Amino acid sequence: NKVVLAYSGGLDTSIIIPWLKENYGCEVICVAGNVGQDAELTGLEERALKTGASKLYIEDIQEEFVYDYVFPTIKAGAVYENKYLLGTSFARPPIAKRIVEIAKKEGADAICHGCTGKGNDQVRFELAIKAFAPNMPIIAPWRIWDIKSRDEEIEYAEAHNIPIKLTRETNYSKDMNLWHLSHEGLDLEDPMNEPLYNKEGFLEMGVSPEMAPDKPTYITLSFEQGIPVALDGKKMDGVTLIKTLNKIGGENGIGLADLVENRLVGMKSRGVYETPGGTILYHAHDVLETICLDKATQHYKQQIALKFADIVYDGQWYTPLREALSAFVDKTQETVTGDVKLKLYKGNIINAGVCSPYSLYSEEIATFGEDEVYNQYDAQGFINLFGLPIKVKAMLDEKRNEN
Ligand code: ARG
Ligand code: SIN
Repeated sequence: NKVVLAYSGGLDTSIIIPWLKENYGCEVICVAGNVGQDAELTGLEERALKTGASKLYIEDIQEEFVYDYVFPTIKAGAVYENKYLLGTSFARPPIAKRIVEIAKKEGADAICHGCTGKGNDQVRFELAIKAFAPNMPIIAPWRIWDIKSRDEEIEYAEAHNIPIKLTRETNYSKDMNLWHLSHEGLDLEDPMNEPLYNKEGFLEMGVSPEMAPDKPTYITLSFEQGIPVALDGKKMDGVTLIKTLNKIGGENGIGLADLVENRLVGMKSRGVYETPGGTILYHAHDVLETICLDKATQHYKQQIALKFADIVYDGQWYTPLREALSAFVDKTQETVTGDVKLKLYKGNIINAGVCSPYSLYSEEIATFGEDEVYNQYDAQGFINLFGLPIKVKAMLDEKRNEN
């Protein structure tokens, strides 16, 4: 009897270990997916074993996470409800996929996760599990056990001699990876409360705009077919690039988002997100597309981005529709190659120049000076036809008013 547990080492997944053993009489094998939440991984093995697990896998999936999930989402320009850069949403599918692989290898009888029954994460984990192991039983303790609060969790932990890293009572519900850090709960649950950005221990990836230096930082990002490949002329792999941008962006107060979002399970919830590097990458990619895409493709792609964001948020990564939309997006990215220069200053990203070998922008045509290619006289006929429906309607209105 074996259960594979998606393990983080936090209070929730820690008490699940003895709970599983007590209720299912099973062996518990823990899996932690390393998606760049560095600090949280140190000492994890010792912790898991002490808590009663028979084994811990730490799986480094950072590269896969960045190239197969993060970059396709940037290319799509997908943003949930205008603000959320999907940091938790697109990390769940690759973690779940790897957990399924291990569960199969171990011959496990079930997969267990520590998501609550009120959130999005349970859906994302379970849809991904279904995609790779359609008949795997799933155990979600939060939906079935009697523990109802954090205090009761602590009681349970103490009763079972579980070492709890005394995460202060004042801790938000956080989710960390190399793309972002989310904060939910406590004072943030009231949308009237301004986030206390300058309070010690709140922001972890950077500082608030007012604490950022008074001097701007310039950077240049290079893209090839929609994918960022270099910073300031230096080639970098995706993982390193994002981590480097996190540092530069964080120092300049870039990438704080505060929103009330619509969860898939029906409720609204309030979240604050730190996404310094990601915010810079989205901005730079967007700027580059303004010169590389034709109008019709650019506008159509905006609609795709909305749908793509919902799909990612709702955990439907492994679906034919997501794959089809990605195929569309990849086609549009064939010419999204070039350099974007940005000025980072106190939470702002200011454009400082863009160029591409595929640029559709023609200074010769757009200029206010004299030009050879654009015949201004042509505009008269164009406007007559383009404006014909307006003219016809106005003539009818006029006639009706006369009668
Ligand atoms: N609200 C965000 C989302 O649904 C963040 C969730 C954070 N998850 C967590 N287990 N703390 O994607
Ligand atoms: C949870 O409820 O497990 C975290 C929040 C979410 O999944 O939306």
